Amino acid sequence: MKKIWLSPPHMSGNELKYIREAFESNWIAPLGPNVDAFEQKLANYVGIDHSVALSSGTAAIHLALIMAGVGQGDIVICPTFTFAASANPIVYLKATPVFIDSENSTWNLCPDVLEEAIIYYIKIGKKPKAIIGVHIYGMPMQLNEIFSLCEKYEIPFIEDAAEALGSSYQGKKLGSFGKISIISFNGNKIITTSGGGALLSDDLSLIKKAKFLASQAKDEAPHYQHSEIGYNYRLSNICAGIGRAQLEVLDERVKSRQANFDFYTKELRKLPRISFQNEPPGFVSNRWLTCIIIDPKLAEGINPDRIRLHLEAKNIESRPLWKPLHLQPVFKDVPYFGGNVAEKLFEQGLCLPSGSNLTENDLSVICNNIKAVFHKS
Ligand SMILES: Cc1ncc(COP(=O)(O)O)c(C=O)c1O
Repeated sequence: MKKIWLSPPHMSGNELKYIREAFESNWIAPLGPNVDAFEQKLANYVGIDHSVALSSGTAAIHLALIMAGVGQGDIVICPTFTFAASANPIVYLKATPVFIDSENSTWNLCPDVLEEAIIYYIKIGKKPKAIIGVHIYGMPMQLNEIFSLCEKYEIPFIEDAAEALGSSYQGKKLGSFGKISIISFNGNKIITTSGGGALLSDDLSLIKKAKFLASQAKDEAPHYQHSEIGYNYRLSNICAGIGRAQLEVLDERVKSRQANFDFYTKELRKLPRISFQNEPPGFVSNRWLTCIIIDPKLAEGINPDRIRLHLEAKNIESRPLWKPLHLQPVFKDVPYFGGNVAEKLFEQGLCLPSGSNLTENDLSVICNNIKAVFHKS
């Protein structure tokens, strides 16, 4: 029985062409023609002026926070319902993350709770230094509402679009909404560079600064001179070659993931206890991962873990939804605002295999196995 993975890489075939070019021209470095072309094509795709290719999305968040002036003791707001990498760079900088609950429809930052936290911190004289917003599983957050809060309180917005390349909000691609936005090209993302990320902005001075910081902060001098602490965060020209070929098929990859979602909803909505992540009007998700929510009141003892274990026994990988960061042992002392929306998503949800290389037969096998759990009960 072949293994069905949650979200495996999906090569187009052209990757080796760009890697070969890099070898033939000896551009085996964290700079080079593949990096330049990848950055330009990515920025064009997203509809933003500039991008910098980096070694990871986490590195991009780290640089974004540095450029927002975040330092020791500062408050940075972040959703609780996300991967730890959204928040870890806040801690690298000795700043304090503050976690915010989700809202029910998109599962992203709840604007009401966000405002409550902003008001609280302004009142105690600790105005948040930045707000990180995340489009979880590719679903756009409530950008209008969140933007108006950022404007009202004059707090910079960093867009974590790690999972959301190819999604859009009111006709505009995600990754183009932050003063600084970030994307991940980790192996499980909609397209990959094996490992990698990017920082995007319309502001050329921020882009220049990001390139400077990401290449060891070398001052202009014939010798090695440094006036700031730098990082080794650039993407290699080999990995960027993979990214160039992946970008050529990005639209196809988005369509395949959205088709997976359509297949799952058509098949599984027949089970009354199952619901999905909502796409409000004007919101388009790339459906990076399709997730189901199982209503415990209707599920007659069937919980996500039972389904996960049944699938695992059939060599099918599925995963619980993100465990909220305020419930993570490492963040146990971090301030949290909100109720139990994210917590419920974690308890009741399951991410289903969502790769763009799934066949209809794979999808049928997965759905039949999920149905089998319900029919057995
Ligand atoms: C929401 C989110 N933010 C940040 C990251 C970090 O990206 P990377 O793995 O490229 O460092 C990821 C994914 O891994 C992610 O899912």
